[in-house]
Amino acid sequence: MTSTTGPTGPFAAPKGVPDYVPPRSRAFDAVRRTLLAAADRAGYSPIELPVFEDTALFARGVGESTDVVAKEMYSFADRGGRSVTLRPEGTAGVMRSVIENRLDKGSLPVKLVYSGPFFRYERPQAGRYRQLQQVGIEAIGSDDPALDAEVIAVADEAFRAVGLAGYRLELTSLGDHTSRPAYRELLQRFLSDLPLDEATRERARLNPLRVLDDKRPAVQEMLADAPLLLDHLGAESAEHFTEVRALLDALGVRYVINPRMVRGLDYYTRTTFEFVHPGLGAQSGMGGGGRYDGLMSELGGAALSGIGFGIGVDRTLMAAEAEGVQVGSSARCEVYGIPVGPGTTGPLVALAGELRRAGIRTDLAYGGRALKSAMKLANDSGARVALLLGENELAAGTVTVRDLGSGEQASIASGRVVEHVVSLLG
Ligand code: HAM
Repeated sequence: MTSTTGPTGPFAAPKGVPDYVPPRSRAFDAVRRTLLAAADRAGYSPIELPVFEDTALFARGVGESTDVVAKEMYSFADRGGRSVTLRPEGTAGVMRSVIENRLDKGSLPVKLVYSGPFFRYERPQAGRYRQLQQVGIEAIGSDDPALDAEVIAVADEAFRAVGLAGYRLELTSLGDHTSRPAYRELLQRFLSDLPLDEATRERARLNPLRVLDDKRPAVQEMLADAPLLLDHLGAESAEHFTEVRALLDALGVRYVINPRMVRGLDYYTRTTFEFVHPGLGAQSGMGGGGRYDGLMSELGGAALSGIGFGIGVDRTLMAAEAEGVQVGSSARCEVYGIPVGPGTTGPLVALAGELRRAGIRTDLAYGGRALKSAMKLANDSGARVALLLGENELAAGTVTVRDLGSGEQASIASGRVVEHVVSLLG
């Protein structure tokens, strides 16, 4: 994943696992912080969870028939012989922790936000990694359609705050446990009349909804008249969905209805959504989520409903790059200090400390560099201001403050440098 021309060391990052190194890591970090900030603005509290859990949690929570559980888990026996799995997603772990820490007994809804790495043994390709990073939120303990609208709006706001414009929000309802079995039967009847191959027939038997997601054009053609779940919702789910749509309209969140949406995880009920970015190529899902009203009780907790999303940080960064959006500052620092000559490093180190305490991002040239090479480093750092301290300045009790944009410079009394720099940076 690195692009270098010279020889590299004997080790490479694991296949399908990206490194983020400067300067791109700055943009990655800015994307993640921007996504987290959108959740913070809506009252979500951070939760920090284990990166590995009991394998059974995911088998139960995510669903045995999903690709994620059946084919993609990093599972291994630890030294005590327990089967543990690197988390493939965040929702099951959040539910486990909410139940274990009795958060469901406090005020509802419980609103949580998390970020970190997740692991799926997928076939690596552009935008599809084996270690992926997400920012996710979960809101547990309320059926209120206003909560669905909030969760979707937080994701939409987060993408907007990153600076993205060219994405689409797809929305549907997957119904509830009362309406879905009847629909499932209807779909299974429809599928049984089609000339499907053996593997697809088996899928139709285990999870007929997933057949709707078959990408082969010939299969898609056969499915043109397939019954759609959205047309067979129970009265309660239909009303809930209407309400969610009205609230999104009121919030100014634009969406398209995609009645054929199929999510990769089994726990979804009712409101379900995906953010799709056409600039991402085949792996176009930037984020997705929905309700999971039966998950908590499935995992041994109270019968509380929930809704949330997971946003892919890797893919959001790729979408920003595709749109030509610069996220965060590419500059490493704002001020770059250059000591020139004996005795100048100490005072400049102290000045750098003062500037940092004043909230100004400051770096220094180290190792007694010549002025010319230090000036090059100053320019490369992205700093807007250079501080030059030579023997003359030292004797006069001043510092030369140079605006790296205009090239103008002034001699400033050392006690007033911070103030002067603050005004220069505006
Ligand atoms: P998910 O749709 O499986 O949902 O993943 C969410 C996002 O993670 C995707 O939209 C995508 O951006 C990113 N992602 C997934 N797999 C990869 C990969 N292999 N490489 C790069 N990015 C990837 C969930 O994980 C649910 N837990 C979301 C949720 C929370 N639903 C309710 N609450």
